[in-house]
Amino acid sequence: MSHKPTILVIDDTESNLDMLMAILKNYDVIPALSGKEALEIVKNEKIDLILLDIMMPEMDGYEVCRRLKSEEATRSIPIIFITAKTDEESIELGYSIGGIDYVTKPFKPRELLARAKTQLDLKGYQESLEAQVESEISQRLAQEKMLIQNAKLAEMGEMMGAIAHQWKQPISAISLFVMNLESEAEQGKLSLDSLREMVSKINHQLLFLSETIDDFRHFFKPDKERVLFDLKDEVKRVIDILAPQLLLHKIEVKCEIENHLLEGYKNEFKQVVLNLINNSKDAIIEHGIEGFIRLYSRIEGEFLALYVEDNGGGIAPEMLNQIFTPHHSTKGEAGTGIGLSLAKKIITEHHQGEISFSNTDQGALFRVALPKSYRLFKE
Ligand SMILES: Nc1ncnc2c1ncn2[C@@H]1O[C@H](COP(=O)(O)OP(=O)(O)OP(=O)(O)O)[C@@H](O)[C@H]1O
Ligand SMILES: [Mg+2]
Repeated sequence: MSHKPTILVIDDTESNLDMLMAILKNYDVIPALSGKEALEIVKNEKIDLILLDIMMPEMDGYEVCRRLKSEEATRSIPIIFITAKTDEESIELGYSIGGIDYVTKPFKPRELLARAKTQLDLKGYQESLEAQVESEISQRLAQEKMLIQNAKLAEMGEMMGAIAHQWKQPISAISLFVMNLESEAEQGKLSLDSLREMVSKINHQLLFLSETIDDFRHFFKPDKERVLFDLKDEVKRVIDILAPQLLLHKIEVKCEIENHLLEGYKNEFKQVVLNLINNSKDAIIEHGIEGFIRLYSRIEGEFLALYVEDNGGGIAPEMLNQIFTPHHSTKGEAGTGIGLSLAKKIITEHHQGEISFSNTDQGALFRVALPKSYRLFKE
């Protein structure tokens, strides 16, 4: 109790009240000459302890006690009965209706003071304990809230990273198209046909950008519908997206994929293929050779496998164990290192498939396999 405790003393005899007030002079004491008066007082005052006489006209102490204990607001105020009634029954009744102590008249002032102090101390301990528990709980709640908030932020960060990653390619393709347009115009070679063609290519890339955003809204909660799509058609579309850069670096793409109908998240699957071709392209550029990327498909037992092979020198030894771990890259500023970790999430978590790789004599070979249980069949 941080404040000076307030004691309500109820007795119908004024001289008794005076005596009690004298004994309790170190506390704030409020006197009441009847039960009725006392019940009014507790409505407006914060009372820490009640000393209650039993024998009073109109409303006796037992009744006052019952009423105080039946109200939520006053239930926890400790009540000490002070009375001349010394028979066991009266004492028992006092305790049974919620009295905390029972002092019989005549009492020694020091004894009364000690008992009052004991009850006030107990109440003080209880209050400080309650406050402590309350503050602990609210602290825990705040901590929990922060953890949830942090997890949400991390997920958002992951999502932003993923979007940025998928946007790199189409954006650089668009900037290449625009550069071509500019130089053709400068040289006076820009025909209406080639303008139309460029615009359509740019629109194609823009469509891909907007699809990516839609996809990522679902990416971390893949609850949207699976669709049927053709493996060969979609791989070709991805190659189209990368065509400007592949052409620029004279990389030959050999597409030996057959028509297979697949069921899954089409755009997510396209992102995987885009990441794989893109990695091959980067390796070839880095290796500085005349490069090729070969894509082919195989039915293998319960799986349909797509292979992406290149001659870019293969995966560096230090990367072999962490190629699917986010943020591991050998490309410095140019790579975020999340391409393959995203690909793994899409293939294994969203499609229950497999993704693996090996090094060949000339470069790397990636295998992406989807289970036939997703209704994969050859047309
Ligand atoms: N075909 C490949 N040939 C050689 N190394 C590869 C090939 N594919 C991936 N790697 C290696 O694996 C690393 C991780 O690839 P990942 O796609 O996850 O990230 P990144 O390409 O470095 O960056 P980001 O894809 O985010 O731009 C690459 O940095 C590269 O070292
Ligand atoms: Mg990559």
